[in-house]
Amino acid sequence: MARGKHQPASDDDLRSHLRASTMAAHDLLDHAMQAASGWQSREDYTRFLELQHAARAPLEDWLDAHAPEALRPPRQTPLIARDLAELGRPVPAPAPLFTIGRTGTGHALGAAWVLAGSALGNRSIAKQVSRIGGGAWPMAFLGDAAMLGFWQALRSRIEQHARPSEAGGATDAATAVFAHFLAVAENAQAAEAMS
Ligand code: HEM
Repeated sequence: MARGKHQPASDDDLRSHLRASTMAAHDLLDHAMQAASGWQSREDYTRFLELQHAARAPLEDWLDAHAPEALRPPRQTPLIARDLAELGRPVPAPAPLFTIGRTGTGHALGAAWVLAGSALGNRSIAKQVSRIGGGAWPMAFLGDAAMLGFWQALRSRIEQHARPSEAGGATDAATAVFAHFLAVAENAQAAEAMS
């Protein structure tokens, strides 16, 4: 699903820079997630949530350990666990530890941007899930208002020009988060192909 709406105010602000730098990674991830699970059936949607939980658990732990409070998005794994419980599934094993080496300028901001920005995509996935599931599938995660609130607060911080060191660090971290998610999606895809 292509990104395109919600264009930021200026072309050289940090958000534009992050979006442009990670556009290819986002497209790859989008395709890998559709291939690994998608959300066309209740079983697909369950696998989608399992993948999301596995990938997000170590990212949330990293942010808890390395990000200042203002850059710590609300944890979403408890919401995913609640959705999975309603679907009759346990919480899956987490993906391997997420790390980007020594934490530097911009890293927390870049990681927070990816997790918070994904709430925009979730909003459009939520509409599809609601339609396909006839409104019966649990959507605590996809409908998370707290993350959208965090996103709105983060916008004022990223819709402005950033120092090169901050922009560079944020881009490195965002790239690492996308790579982490992609690895989890590709593993899930491989497991699905073998089943
Ligand atoms: C299942 C696959 C996914 C689909 C279909 C999807 C779809 C989208 C869409 C439609 C947008 C643009 C929304 C808008 O501007 O209103 C978007 C933005 C974004 N998504 Fe995704 N997404 C997916 C997975 C992910 C994942 C797993 C992450 C993060 C781990 C992610 C991170 C982002 C980010 C950072 C943005 C941009 C935020 C900004 O505009 O600054 N997406 N996505």
